[in-house]
Amino acid sequence: MSERVYIFDTTLRDGEQSPGCSMNLEEKLKMARQLERLNVDIIEAGFPIASEGDFEAVRAISKELVKPRIAGLARANRLDIERAAEAVKYAKHPRIHTFIATSDIHLEHKLRKTRAEVLEQTREAVKIARDLCEDVEFSAEDATRSDIAYLVEVFEAAIDAGARTINIPDTVGYTIPQEFGPFVKEIISRVSNKEGVVFSCHCHNDLGLGVANSLAAVEAGCRQIECTINGIGERAGNASLEEIVMSLRTRRDKLPYETGVVSEEIFRSSKTLTNLTGTFVQPNKAIVGKNAFAHEAGIHQDGVLKKAITYEIMTPQSVGIFSSTLVLGKHSGRHALQNKYQELGYTLSKEELDRAYFFFTKLADQKKEIYDEDLIAIIQDGIKLIPDTWRLKYIHSAGGNQELSTAVVKLEKSGEIHVESSFGDGPVDACYKAIDRITGLTGKLLEYSVSSVTRGKDALGEVFVHVNFGERTHSGKAASVDIIDASARAYVNAVNKALYEKQRASKQAAAEIAEA
Ligand code: KIV
Ligand code: ZN
Repeated sequence: MSERVYIFDTTLRDGEQSPGCSMNLEEKLKMARQLERLNVDIIEAGFPIASEGDFEAVRAISKELVKPRIAGLARANRLDIERAAEAVKYAKHPRIHTFIATSDIHLEHKLRKTRAEVLEQTREAVKIARDLCEDVEFSAEDATRSDIAYLVEVFEAAIDAGARTINIPDTVGYTIPQEFGPFVKEIISRVSNKEGVVFSCHCHNDLGLGVANSLAAVEAGCRQIECTINGIGERAGNASLEEIVMSLRTRRDKLPYETGVVSEEIFRSSKTLTNLTGTFVQPNKAIVGKNAFAHEAGIHQDGVLKKAITYEIMTPQSVGIFSSTLVLGKHSGRHALQNKYQELGYTLSKEELDRAYFFFTKLADQKKEIYDEDLIAIIQDGIKLIPDTWRLKYIHSAGGNQELSTAVVKLEKSGEIHVESSFGDGPVDACYKAIDRITGLTGKLLEYSVSSVTRGKDALGEVFVHVNFGERTHSGKAASVDIIDASARAYVNAVNKALYEKQRASKQAAAEIAEA
């Protein structure tokens, strides 16, 4: 019988705090819903004390999700812990995750505290957390560079005070499997009060060993693994959820451990994250990269056609990549489109199907073959929660390498057409300036990326932008066969998010005043 390993997903906390991966409330909720479908055991939804936005997101996720345990992170002090408790209190299964560093390096240079002080702080923090929430996890930050005897003492104090999950983080991604396995084993054997306690690992990927170290920790006795979708996280990231889950599944012969993850939801989870953040995975990324199941070499293609097992150690279907049997083109109707979406794992309402069909027919007019990626891009671009306050109706831009570019843009709002033109350093800049003139918002473009989401000369290009509108930065995304069109739509998408966020904030402020 395989032993159960709990998957603790920290995409929305450790992952979200990494550059380029920030998400707003709606985006976090969308990701959390997908993580629930993926059936992870615990979702670390955020760090409530870090910002109002983080607090609100943890609270909203706690209110909505029913299956997974929802954790809120807190440093080992009363203020942080009370804020985390307030945010997770609506969850069906709440958890407070509190942490403090234990390595001498951190004690001396960061905390400026003695070992005795940190030991005492651990005891107190866990007690405070335990008074507010039954389920408390304690992490010893930089555990892998901590003195093992001291670490054991801290863990025993945390358990005495009520922690039921003890996490051993490799915060700086320094350890290697040959060291981490025995390290974890020794900790577990030396902790005297471990009855009923789950040991956990949390491995960063600075040496590219996050997954290998996590698997070594499981073999040494950890039964919770902390990880993120696509391996996003601080610096080089965290151990990647999909690699851990599929390693355990594919090598059950050597790793007899089970997770509750629905592996067929892995690809969709990865796509949801990249679509929300615009941080793409490299094509050769294990499990979810564009090429993970693509065979280019003739010998490989021949082998796979004869029997997939020759070059595939797991099926694409097992991670939710369904190979195409139905080729869609401009003569396909709504029924075929609906079937295809179902095959891809999306059940669309009638209204969503109508919108998707509208985008599909437009694209089918411009492209001979519609790939699965086109269809996914259509529904993620076309079906969204944020209302299209402004819609792009027309765009014309001209430029060259010797002169300033110009653009004319028409936007529609509530049935009215607004037109503006502008100069710029390049056609995209000219478009964005014209859009700013119409909307009255001034956006500062922080990031701009173009990638091809489909294959062929007539590939659909996807543009991703991060735009700062004063107080907040919003992402925008759009796909089109024309890059300038996609650029303008992506920018308008970010504008609509900024407007939506403003309206939401003023509605909330009005409600708070009315309540007071
Ligand atoms: O890397 C780390 O040590 C952390 C802790 C807060 C668990 O993220
Ligand atoms: Zn971390």
